[in-house]
Amino acid sequence: MKKSVFAAAAMLGAFALVATGCAGGAAPGAGGNGGGGGDDVIKVGFAQTGSESGWRAANTESMKKAFSAENGFELIFNAADNKQEAQISAVRNFINQGVDAIVIAPITVDGWDDVLKEAKDAGIPVILEDRTVSASEDLYASWVGLDFEQEGRTAGEWVKENFDGKGANLVVLEGTTGSSAALDRATGFNEAIDGTDINVLDSQTGDFTRDGGKKVMEGYLQKYGKDINVLFAHNDDMGLGALDAIKAAGLTPGKDIQIVTIDAVKDGMTALANGEFNFIVECNPLLGDKAAELVKAVVAGDEVEKRTIVEDQSFTQEQAAEVLDSRPY
Ligand code: AHR
Repeated sequence: MKKSVFAAAAMLGAFALVATGCAGGAAPGAGGNGGGGGDDVIKVGFAQTGSESGWRAANTESMKKAFSAENGFELIFNAADNKQEAQISAVRNFINQGVDAIVIAPITVDGWDDVLKEAKDAGIPVILEDRTVSASEDLYASWVGLDFEQEGRTAGEWVKENFDGKGANLVVLEGTTGSSAALDRATGFNEAIDGTDINVLDSQTGDFTRDGGKKVMEGYLQKYGKDINVLFAHNDDMGLGALDAIKAAGLTPGKDIQIVTIDAVKDGMTALANGEFNFIVECNPLLGDKAAELVKAVVAGDEVEKRTIVEDQSFTQEQAAEVLDSRPY
């Protein structure tokens, strides 16, 4: 079976090493917030985005498993219901509680400077997982996540390969506005279809949720009807919501409207294997072990990689049918 694997080359070690001390984290037991060194339990606050998608559920599970008591952690978990202010206040709470480290899956790119500075001043190291921020790299110790721009590019290349030269009409369901996942996927996708005759009819946010995807797709269908040939959804859940809207409009997903999405969670892969989706680019949610490894190293005062990109794959309908049963999420 041929899988297009990307980002592997950018895996561990491809980025500059930084001293965690430079990132603002004092080693526990050496002043700072104390605790966490040697055999001590490491107290970690994790500020999750919310529970918007199947991907997020798998990511939360991976994080909770990795930051278990068995692995030497006390985890304080917070899900911010996709609200940036709630996430920032959760991080402030972690600082007030004097945790040993903070992990954040930032909802949006901007708005993090102040609270990251507060964590740095308190001597609490911050690890980012999943999405990125626009704040200075000095304000966090490390980031582990995915190459969202490449994910968008891979989706766009598939659309180009299948629709260029046909004057096809495309609609887009964007992820959460201002998130690195939505911004970077749009950049990569647009770059890939640039110079083709593919006509982008519309592009609106469905906020990475099934309901959002369904509602926006209903609007598209009312406005453009049968003119739509292709849908690019920034995640599986929005694509799955769109399936309901497409069927309710009397059209056949996967045929009348071809669908490319990102994530490759179980429900998305099932839709792909059943022929309702046409192509999926994976976004691997299993970031917990690497995040926990980074936290342990940072708390111990060790050097860590500034950026770690985890490998993604992509799947056609046939490939999805082959691997569906063995998928871990
Ligand atoms: O940041 C990763 C994105 O967030 C996933 O693609 C999406 O499903 C989730 O909500």
